[in-house]
Amino acid sequence: MTKFSKIVLLAVLSMVSSVLFAADFTVGDKTFLLNGQPFVVKAAEVHYPRIPRPYWEHRIRMCRALGMNTLCLYVFWNIHEQQEGVFDFSGQNDIAEFCRLAQRNGMYVIVRPGPYVCAEWEMGGLPWWLLKKKDIRLRERDPYFMERVKIFEQKVGEQLAPLTIQNGGPIIMMQVENEFGSYGEDKPYVSEIRDCLRTIYGERLTLFQCDWASNFTKNGLDDLVWTMNFGTGANIDQQFKRLGELRPNAPKMCSEFWSGWFDKWGARHETRPADKMVKGIDEMLQKGISFSLYMTHGGTSFGHWAGANSPGFAPDVTSYDYDAPINEYGQATPKYHLLRETLQKYSDKKLPSVPKAMPIITVPRFALTEFVPFVQAEGRVETSPLKTFEEMDMGWGAMVYRTRLPEIAAQSVLEGDFHDYAQVFVDGKFIGKIDRVKNERTLALPAVKQGAELAIIVEGMGRINFGRAIKDYKGIIGEVAITATIGNDEVTWKPRQWHHTAVADDYEVAVKTLALTPQPAGSDIQKPGYHRGYFNINKVGDTFLNFETWGKGQVWVNGHAIGRFWSVGPQQTLYVPGCWLKKGRNEVVVLDIVGPRERVVWGQSAPELNKLQIAKRVRHDDAQRRPDLSSRQPYAVGAFKGGNGWQSQRAATVRGRYVAIEVLSTQEPDGQPAIAEWYMLDKNGRQLSRESWTVYYAGSEDENGNHTGEKVFDLQESTYWQAVKGTKLPLLLVIDMGKETDVSGFSYLPRAEQGAPGSVKDYRIYIY
Ligand code: GLA
Ligand code: CA
Repeated sequence: MTKFSKIVLLAVLSMVSSVLFAADFTVGDKTFLLNGQPFVVKAAEVHYPRIPRPYWEHRIRMCRALGMNTLCLYVFWNIHEQQEGVFDFSGQNDIAEFCRLAQRNGMYVIVRPGPYVCAEWEMGGLPWWLLKKKDIRLRERDPYFMERVKIFEQKVGEQLAPLTIQNGGPIIMMQVENEFGSYGEDKPYVSEIRDCLRTIYGERLTLFQCDWASNFTKNGLDDLVWTMNFGTGANIDQQFKRLGELRPNAPKMCSEFWSGWFDKWGARHETRPADKMVKGIDEMLQKGISFSLYMTHGGTSFGHWAGANSPGFAPDVTSYDYDAPINEYGQATPKYHLLRETLQKYSDKKLPSVPKAMPIITVPRFALTEFVPFVQAEGRVETSPLKTFEEMDMGWGAMVYRTRLPEIAAQSVLEGDFHDYAQVFVDGKFIGKIDRVKNERTLALPAVKQGAELAIIVEGMGRINFGRAIKDYKGIIGEVAITATIGNDEVTWKPRQWHHTAVADDYEVAVKTLALTPQPAGSDIQKPGYHRGYFNINKVGDTFLNFETWGKGQVWVNGHAIGRFWSVGPQQTLYVPGCWLKKGRNEVVVLDIVGPRERVVWGQSAPELNKLQIAKRVRHDDAQRRPDLSSRQPYAVGAFKGGNGWQSQRAATVRGRYVAIEVLSTQEPDGQPAIAEWYMLDKNGRQLSRESWTVYYAGSEDENGNHTGEKVFDLQESTYWQAVKGTKLPLLLVIDMGKETDVSGFSYLPRAEQGAPGSVKDYRIYIY
């Protein structure tokens, strides 16, 4: 062959092969295929808004050095379209650049573009302004919702469609919606989201759904890949059992393997053991199962972006450390090193070395001496019947509601729906607070004279991000009633005219429109307001500003929104990345809606994520509440089977408010009794809503592991109530359903771990 014909032949061959093996990611027999070759996805979940942009590449390289081959990320609708029709994909929001950085560092990308993402993020990623349409049906085929979803996805497509693997980019797969099975059953809606993505990204991009093993069939579409979500410790074979039966030749993937868990205000910091997590990954890799480790690096929910969980209202803290292998500030933890050893076993090349950590600095104590009281922070004002934040066209912040009262000669009770933290004043005097986290709705008011001023400051926290309660308005919802007994009559007043002052949680509002003036020490500091102070540094680095002497509010450093603080904890410090600091003078602005004990701050070299400062105990073992069931007829007596998975039991229909679950024995002798989830069934056998449920009494709760009673109705299959080791049986858990309810049976889920540790055997159930 001549040299020339050789060249021609090579050219032809390479053309043929580029057609045959054009970059692609597809589904093969029991495996994914990357360019035609079997491929196990080892994905690291990371969220671009939770990492300061200057640190993006560092975190990507940390994931690569850990042994991951892919990054998995959500697209957060509400940071890209903060105002309807105004889109921002620049700077911190430049997702295309994040994907290109991934590709430059040799990583593939999985994108989960919502529209709903959950993620412990404000409203699960949905923009608050959707709520301005009061009858909107979120995550349904509501015409307005779908119209906005499609416009948004189209805009994301302009950023990301050029970056699919078929177009030479790093994006191998995309997710349709998110865990829809935990929300409802609506294949037409899920199909419409799928079709929307297909139109934007073409037929060849692999699309998948993620759900729980217990509910993925509810919305599983025939032409999509099905993946399962479960956490550290889960029984992996059990998790894929149903999928294996339905689709024996499908690749298996855990699209969210939870490395740890998120934290909520007022509850202990969550952790999951490193060895168990690594064992799960090892088992999956041995079995050729793909995974995404949620989170590999959690980062921080800066500003007001942390969401809240339901049932009830459980706002998430600012840190999204998640007990992940790469901690909140980007450092390798012992979990990281242990996992890296395992991932090294499954990699034919030596893993790249671990990037150097960012420098850490400390900041000596400094005082915030400038102050302006909150009541002077006049924002937009309006006098009208009560309005929510949304009706006042405000997404976040606080509202001061003021009205004049008639003469009320006796003590009265103020009642209403306050979202989320209300402080009540009469003629400027603080009367008390009404805290939605504690299910509070009422407050006693003193007798008042004609014309007394009632002022209520309501602060909104993150909107609920999980379950049906995501339609979460802020401010005062509905009417406020004041009821007193005058003589022999019960009299109720409902003030109609209210003066509204909207105070946005905005740096510009704090600094530009307010005259923050130096205050003599000790003056006025207990009152709500804005504070400002400065610290000087000669070396820049990451630090953790301590706010444990402060009340509740938000912080800005050099204009960057750092996040929320709340004295209750468990988080007491806020992560301040060095990339937002400068040599010399740095400015700290604090909006404290309660007021500090002492207006000092300092920067520590390590975070404080587990210091609760609450008077109320988190356990429910108050002996006075223990019901005497000896004379009661049990509603049901029986024994559960051993092993993982849901078990249901129907019985007669009865009416009652309290459900007492009496554990008589566990499957394994001397087990540590545990229950992951519990439902009561209505008269038609359907699961009753648990929105109004609270724990009335629990004989034992493993509080240190965060296994308190409400974990049986927190909607999460991976969390559980557990008694402390050595608890004597029988053991009682009493749930208050909030109101008299007809029930006809119950459903029980044991712990998700192999062998369902602590699972209940003999039980007695009482309804009364
Ligand atoms: C689910 C969601 C995630 C996240 C986790 C809990 O799996 O899909 O967005 O909320 O729960 O951290
Ligand atoms: Ca649970």
